[in-house]
Amino acid sequence: MRQSLTEIYDNRAAEGSLRPDPAQRAVLPLLEDIRTRLETAPPPRSRGLLGGLLRRGAPEPAGKGLYLWGGVGRGKSMLMDLFTAETAITAKRRVHFHAFMQEIQRELHAARQRGAADALVPVADAVAQDLRLLCFDEMQITDIADAMVVGRLFERLMAQGVTIVTTSNRPPDDLYKNGLNRGLFLPFIGLIKERMTVAELESPTDYRQHRLAGTQVYFTPADPAAHAALSALWDELTGGGAGAPLTLAVNGREITLDHAQNGVARASFWDLCARPLGPGDYLAIAAAVRVLIVEDIPRLSAANYNEAKRFVTLVDALYEAKVRLIASAADEPERLYAEGTGAFEFERTASRLREMQGADWGAAAD
Ligand SMILES: Nc1ncnc2c1ncn2[C@@H]1O[C@H](COP(=O)(O)OP(=O)(O)OP(=O)(O)O)[C@@H](O)[C@H]1O
Ligand SMILES: [Mg+2]
Repeated sequence: MRQSLTEIYDNRAAEGSLRPDPAQRAVLPLLEDIRTRLETAPPPRSRGLLGGLLRRGAPEPAGKGLYLWGGVGRGKSMLMDLFTAETAITAKRRVHFHAFMQEIQRELHAARQRGAADALVPVADAVAQDLRLLCFDEMQITDIADAMVVGRLFERLMAQGVTIVTTSNRPPDDLYKNGLNRGLFLPFIGLIKERMTVAELESPTDYRQHRLAGTQVYFTPADPAAHAALSALWDELTGGGAGAPLTLAVNGREITLDHAQNGVARASFWDLCARPLGPGDYLAIAAAVRVLIVEDIPRLSAANYNEAKRFVTLVDALYEAKVRLIASAADEPERLYAEGTGAFEFERTASRLREMQGADWGAAAD
């Protein structure tokens, strides 16, 4: 028998895989409405040939979507994943908003090169093809190129019958705040308010922090047991999966972290510190993730001066941004860079690495 989302949620709480949270529970009926609507709408093909043809000519606009916002770690992604998984239609897609917009920008570029007069319409229609539900995780708009197209994009998707559900850390009015040409962006905020139910997830609990509180986050030596422990934490924090590449634009260049999901990224020390990255890159990484898993930090010496220096910069950026650092390392922080130029400065890094292992580290981050 089909269970409601609330029943599924309550079952998980009863078996102990979720802590019952009234604020999360309060959001479920909003998702249930969308779920029921999508599941009970007759699929286009069952309407008979004529119906199918008519429908193709003029798609029915989508019903109201949902814009779910709130502080970090409140369970927005978890609720959206529950909803996406339990909505029994095949024409659905869940995607990280940032990855989706990169795809759109690539397609727009390709369409313009083919000489399309208005590239947005064919690109949006191609996305909407065979799709009735689009779930975006972590909507945020920082890029002017995205800000300038997202309004018309959503409008077209909705007109083509795609229901949109999205999570965000900000209320709609704060999207693209202080962005360039923000006036041109305002119609998008109006569209969200008109075509999506806006709901705040008001839970007082940051579950991500909660899950890590009291958990070991620094593993030494960096042996297979440490690797397995990091993998277990990754699964715990992201819900499992390989993670998708996260590409960040920094000063006109792009840097990519190969494995990211749900605000968590995982990379090796060498990926992060053996590449010619600078402070701007580390700041961008720190701004893009809430938890960074750094694997295989080696013992450093004067021979790895550049890597050590980058590591110091990385730790400073993570520290300032209150990012949670989970790491495996060859040794205790104080012994990672004991001699060589900069060993003195490394003491501060070691001390920060210690502090960042604390149970309540990052708890105040917003
Ligand atoms: N009620 C709960 N009981 C136990 N764990 C939970 C609960 N709600 C969420 N979690 C877990 O807490 C972590 C954070 O949740 P989630 O990623 O959904 O937060 P979020 O609101 O999307 O955060 P962000 O804004 O940073 O993306 C996840 O590992 C999730 O599975
Ligand atoms: Mg999330």
